[in-house]
Amino acid sequence: MTKAVTLLDLFELKKQGEPITMLTAYDATFAKLISEQGIEVILVGDSLGMVMQGLTSTVPVTMEDMVYHISCVARGNRGAFIIGDMPYMSYASETDLLHNAARLMQAGANMVKVEGGAWLCDGIKQLSERGIPVCAHLGLTPQSVDALGGFRVQGRDKASAEKMLQEAQQLQDAGASLLVLECVPADLADEITQLLRIPTIGIGAGNRTNGQVLVMQDMLGLNSEFNPKFVKNFMAEPNVQNVAEAFKAYRDAVKSRQFPAAEHSFK
Ligand code: KIV
Repeated sequence: MTKAVTLLDLFELKKQGEPITMLTAYDATFAKLISEQGIEVILVGDSLGMVMQGLTSTVPVTMEDMVYHISCVARGNRGAFIIGDMPYMSYASETDLLHNAARLMQAGANMVKVEGGAWLCDGIKQLSERGIPVCAHLGLTPQSVDALGGFRVQGRDKASAEKMLQEAQQLQDAGASLLVLECVPADLADEITQLLRIPTIGIGAGNRTNGQVLVMQDMLGLNSEFNPKFVKNFMAEPNVQNVAEAFKAYRDAVKSRQFPAAEHSFK
């Protein structure tokens, strides 16, 4: 990438109707490869608990883990916008939120991501007033997997869909600048995207959000035991010979809205 991607560029992509591309990365080598393929955003997700540490959920991931991996990604990055996940319970109180968000920004993140709804509004306001951009995350929020009863699609009934619409609006009004929607019916994700001024990024949320994100190991087909509906293996695409080409194929497929297709989306 010739010029570093900024938050304003992401808003401009939404305005122009051009999908935003995002992948997770956790180290310098992959951060370099991903950013060199023109993927605009790298998410240092707490999914690292599963794909790097071999855990069964993101719950045990710590602030030290996140600071370490964000700093590795920042060193390899060539101009992508970096989002750092705030790990489990690191933002349960406002004091912890401010202190821990600052640590992630100092490690090299350009924005922090928090999972949850209306209860986060006061904290998001505090962060955005202090110049720390926030990405909110609704739908399947993996840090609450035990409360949700497992990794399942969210917002399928009228009441939970209404609640998600309302909370999306409240998070934006509190100062969130981006919203990840995970495992949400495509029509609901579309409705939220139309409602909001800020860009939405989907994972298992259909192809009418303003952008897409996947966990890098998933889209490289590295775990044959993990095949959720919303993942596509880009290493298996014709003409893809190596990892860099798989990243480019993902970018092209998202930009042309060929990915995700109906078969990767939920009703
Ligand atoms: O941790 C992560 O990688 C995420 C994405 C799946 C959105 O939150």
